[in-house]
Amino acid sequence: MNKKVSGLAMATAVCMATVMSGCEAPSLDFLSGKKEQVSQPASSGDNTGAQTPAEEPATGAPQGQDQGSNAPHKPTMEETIRTVDGIPTVTNPEELYVIVNKQRALPSDYVPSDLTEPNVPFPFKDKVEKRLLREPAARALEALFSQAKQDGIELYAVSGYRSYKTQKSLYETYVRTQGEAHAAAFSAVPGKSEHQTGLAMDVSGLDQATRLEQTFADTPEGMWLAEKCAAFGFIIRYPKGKEDITGYAYEPWHLRYVGKEMAEEIMSRGITLEEYFQESRSS
Ligand code: DAL
Ligand code: ZN
Repeated sequence: MNKKVSGLAMATAVCMATVMSGCEAPSLDFLSGKKEQVSQPASSGDNTGAQTPAEEPATGAPQGQDQGSNAPHKPTMEETIRTVDGIPTVTNPEELYVIVNKQRALPSDYVPSDLTEPNVPFPFKDKVEKRLLREPAARALEALFSQAKQDGIELYAVSGYRSYKTQKSLYETYVRTQGEAHAAAFSAVPGKSEHQTGLAMDVSGLDQATRLEQTFADTPEGMWLAEKCAAFGFIIRYPKGKEDITGYAYEPWHLRYVGKEMAEEIMSRGITLEEYFQESRSS
């Protein structure tokens, strides 16, 4: 019940996981044409190889909406899911509004085709995959951070893209150090993390004490982020009070890019991405 305590414990686990296992440190070589490694596409839940670049974009759905004034295409949840090897799997992993959650996995070999490093501050020096975001999300993050700086707010990009393999390692460390229940509240099982979409970034201020902590919400940086992120196309993906819908504890640090129009509707109405796709449009 005590989410703050859980948050503290899990944030500790995040640090431990990163420090102990180095699991968030695959290099960026594959971005510069040196395909770092090519692994077999997953065919079972035990797959650990997920660095295979996406060979073709998802088909059967219109490509992502963005910040234009036209209403984005809004398929039903059922239209964008099919069962693959017994796992309900999204059919539109390349869409900017893809819904990945505990009921909706990404193809385990999915790697976004347009990963790039945003020009923003990171609280670490290593050239590792967690710096990356998909192109539109990276550009939007730069604009968000630039506005923050103008407003006297110092933000850091803590953790972005994670491969299936990295998420597997991270989740297993959570389970080992914190137990199944804590892991389930704060970490996605491999294949079901938004970080694998390349559309999510964990953000903090300079203060390490509130980094990946629920107390971040009460800092000037956390409050600024909650108020301004939608104007740049981001939502707070796991809001307070919506745990039953999202499946996760409150994460005021986890930004998800969906594009400006959708973000503004979701944040102004105080709803989740799941509710947005379940409800009829208000406009
Ligand atoms: N912390 C979020 C839920 C993730 O692991 O993707
Ligand atoms: Zn996150």
